[in-house]
Amino acid sequence: MKNFARIIGTGSYLPPKIVTNFDLEKTLDTTDEWITSRTGIKERRIVNNESTCDLAVPACLNALSMAELKPQDIDFIILSTTTPDKIFPATATMLQNRLGASCPAFDIQAVCAGFVFALNTAQQYIENGSATNILVVGSETMSKIVDWNDRSTAILFADGAGAVVLSADNNTGIKYSKLYSDGNYLSSLQVNNNRINELGTIEMEGNEVFKIAVNKLSDLAEETLKECNMTSENIDWMIPHQANIRIISAVAKRIKLPMEKVILTVEKHGNTSAASIPLALDIGIRDGRINKGDTLLFEGIGGGFSWGSVLAEF
Ligand code: UT7
Repeated sequence: MKNFARIIGTGSYLPPKIVTNFDLEKTLDTTDEWITSRTGIKERRIVNNESTCDLAVPACLNALSMAELKPQDIDFIILSTTTPDKIFPATATMLQNRLGASCPAFDIQAVCAGFVFALNTAQQYIENGSATNILVVGSETMSKIVDWNDRSTAILFADGAGAVVLSADNNTGIKYSKLYSDGNYLSSLQVNNNRINELGTIEMEGNEVFKIAVNKLSDLAEETLKECNMTSENIDWMIPHQANIRIISAVAKRIKLPMEKVILTVEKHGNTSAASIPLALDIGIRDGRINKGDTLLFEGIGGGFSWGSVLAEF
C-alpha cells in the first residue's frame, strides 16, 4: 500500500511590528498608490530583533498542536530559509533544540521556492517509508538582506514563518510534485556578496523576474494539472507564493482558475519568501476556507531560478 504524505497540522507566526506603505513613503521616493497598484501590498511585518529561528518556533508549536503531536514524535525537521541565523549550524538544528525534538534537522535554500522544495523532499522520506512525521517549515527575516534605500525591493520583502506537519497516510495526501532549477538567471535576482563574511543585499531586475515568474509558473500549473489528469475545476484552492498580486492573477487567468479560489495574503504580508506559502495555507485553514478533502495547488518561484509545484488533497 502506498504511503502518502498528508498535511495534518499547520501553524504560522508573524512578528508584531507592522510597516505600512505610508511608513515607507516617509523614507523612500514611493507612494502607497504605486505600491498597491503594482504589487497588491499594503503592509508587511518586519522584525525588531527576532531571528529566523525565533519566528519558526511558534509557527512549529502551532502546527504540532493542530497535528496533536509532540516534538519527540517528529522524524525530520526540514527548514526552508534564505536568511539563516548563522552560516552554520543549520537554523533547523537550533529550531530542533528550541522545540525539544531529537530528530535530524537540516535547512533547504531555494529562496521563494524553498517551501515547495522542502515539501517535495519530505514527501520522498514519507513515501519510501523512512519517516512517519516530518515538520516542514518556511521562516524568513528578509528585512535583514533588503537594501532599505532601494525602493524597487524594499517595498516587497518582509518577515514571517509558517510550518506544516506531514504524516504518513494510506489514503491520500500529496499526489504530485515537480521541481525545476535553471541557473542561467543569476544576475536577475541575487544577494551579490562574493565573500562569505560580507553581508550583501537583494539585487533584482524586477521586470525580468516578473515576466519569467508568470511564464514558468503558468507552464508548471498546466503541467501539474495535466500530470494529475485534472483541470482547474478540480482545484479547490491555489496557494501560491505571495510575491505580487499581478503575477498570481496572471497565472490564475492562464489556467482559468477564478481568483475566489486563490488564497491571498500578499496585501498584508508582502513577500516573505519561503514562508509565504505555509503562512497563506495556515490562514486559509484557520479561517475555515480550506477543509479536509480539498484539493490544493501550491506553486512558487525564486532566485536561481528555482521553481516548483505540489498538488495535494488536504
Ligand atoms: O519572489 C520572487 C521574487 N520577486 C518577484 O517576484 C518580483 C517580480 N517583479 C515585480 O513584482 C515587479 O517587477 C515590481 C513590483 C518589482 C516592479 O513593478 P514593474 O511594474 O515591473 O515596474 P518597473 O520595474 O518596470 O518600474 C517602472 C517604474 C520605473 O520608473 P521609470 O524608469 O519608468 O521612470 C521605476 O524606477 O517605476 C519605478 N519604481 C517605483 N516607483 C515608485 C520602481 N519602484 C518604485 C517604487 N515606487 N517603489
